[in-house]
Amino acid sequence: MMYDMLRDPKEFWEDFYEDRSKEIPFFQIEGPDENLVHYFEQTIAPKKVLELGWGPGRNAIYMAKQGCKVDAIDISENAIEWANERALKEGVSVNFHCRSIFDIDVEPATYDFIYDCGLFHHLAPHRRLSHIEMIKKALKKDGFFGIVCFNKTGASDTSDWDIYKKGSLNGGIGYSEERLKDILNKDFIIHEFRTMRKIHQPNSIFGEDFLWTSLMTMRDDA
Ligand SMILES: C[S@@+](CC[C@H](N)C(=O)[O-])C[C@H]1O[C@@H](n2cnc3c(N)ncnc32)[C@H](O)[C@@H]1O
Repeated sequence: MMYDMLRDPKEFWEDFYEDRSKEIPFFQIEGPDENLVHYFEQTIAPKKVLELGWGPGRNAIYMAKQGCKVDAIDISENAIEWANERALKEGVSVNFHCRSIFDIDVEPATYDFIYDCGLFHHLAPHRRLSHIEMIKKALKKDGFFGIVCFNKTGASDTSDWDIYKKGSLNGGIGYSEERLKDILNKDFIIHEFRTMRKIHQPNSIFGEDFLWTSLMTMRDDA
């Protein structure tokens, strides 16, 4: 498969989480994304949530603490182990499923909110469409979709053509505002699109300005 030629996602992510002491911003910080907290405080009050690529569980745990019923999908066993430990410590319950998002069969129109922090920019170009189709299927008609994704400071803005030419996703794709909006605009109405606020640590929330954040709803004709 073309995707596997670029990078085997399971192997890559198991390896990535092998050493928890690595200098990765979201390894050291247990708090949720600043934009997610802002959505909950200002705009959304979801009951049923789906998180795609939860990693060590920062955002899933936060949403469970807000009273949401959270289903979370991640491909890595090492991530699930870590996230379960954190959820246990925090005394919350999250339905962590260890699967690839491309191997799940979602129930249609189930979720009030779907959140992807940091997964989309690691997807090979030809996977974007199925990712978005799955989100559209799983989201309730008036549900919200939130995304956090590398901007051009977070990673290089490699073109789709160059990714296949080099056979590598490198450390992910750093999207320009125009490129990301072009992809999202087709199916979603963008209510908020901005750079994540840099939050100086220690703090109870996470924020890095090399990331885009956006909150959307589905278009009627999507
Ligand atoms: C950059 S990490 C973000 C982790 C987490 N959202 C956070 O911000 O703390 C991306 C996550 O996506 C997961 N992932 C990558 N490809 C996946 C796939 N095809 N299906 C499910 N999860 C995947 C990885 O295991 C990893 O935990």
